[in-house]
Amino acid sequence: MRFFVDTADVEAIAELNDLGMVDGVTTNPSLILKSGRDILEVTREICSIVDGPVSAEVVALKADDMIAEGRKLAEIAPNIAVKVPLTWDGLKTCKVLSDEGRMVNVTLCFSANQALLAAKAGATFISPFIGRLDDINIDGMDLISDIRTIYDNYGFETNILAASIRSVNHMTQCALVGADVATAPPNVIKAMASHVLTDKGLDQFMKDWAKTGQKIL
Ligand code: G3P
Repeated sequence: MRFFVDTADVEAIAELNDLGMVDGVTTNPSLILKSGRDILEVTREICSIVDGPVSAEVVALKADDMIAEGRKLAEIAPNIAVKVPLTWDGLKTCKVLSDEGRMVNVTLCFSANQALLAAKAGATFISPFIGRLDDINIDGMDLISDIRTIYDNYGFETNILAASIRSVNHMTQCALVGADVATAPPNVIKAMASHVLTDKGLDQFMKDWAKTGQKIL
């Protein structure tokens, strides 16, 4: 499973990238707001750090305007994936930009039917939002699993990019059901390294080592 980092925080991206943990980046208007930076400038900086796909989202609602915005975003760098919402106009935009050879990430997906339409429109990525379904008492992971089955049934090449990930358990479950990519905030990726038994075991090793009176360096 590829790891994308869901943030426009350049420092956090660079830190994880240095560790080889970043296969791509996803941003959205809320994350651009959080960064406090200009979308074109911060996206350009992210693309200079990360080799993999960097999603940048259009904000127009009509297809013609979305297409124009998508083309402008795609000019930033060759690894831009234009992110469009899963609306009828978003699907039209997806088809046009995909036919031009651009990567397209169709976002705000909450149903298997929406994912089927995005694949038909040539999406490179489909972004089902797990956490937001969990928020309304619908199991977001069931959606990932259903999309996996449908895409495999028909050989669709659209990548399932599990989004709205809130916990380390989401990451494990995504890997188990076969999401192609999981995009998670930096704190979730870092939290995957933590285990109470690791901490406990290390504490004991440190105590015993101190008793030996030895040094390695
Ligand atoms: O990748 C989508 C993500 O940014 C949304 O996450 O936690 O706002 O549902 P969340």
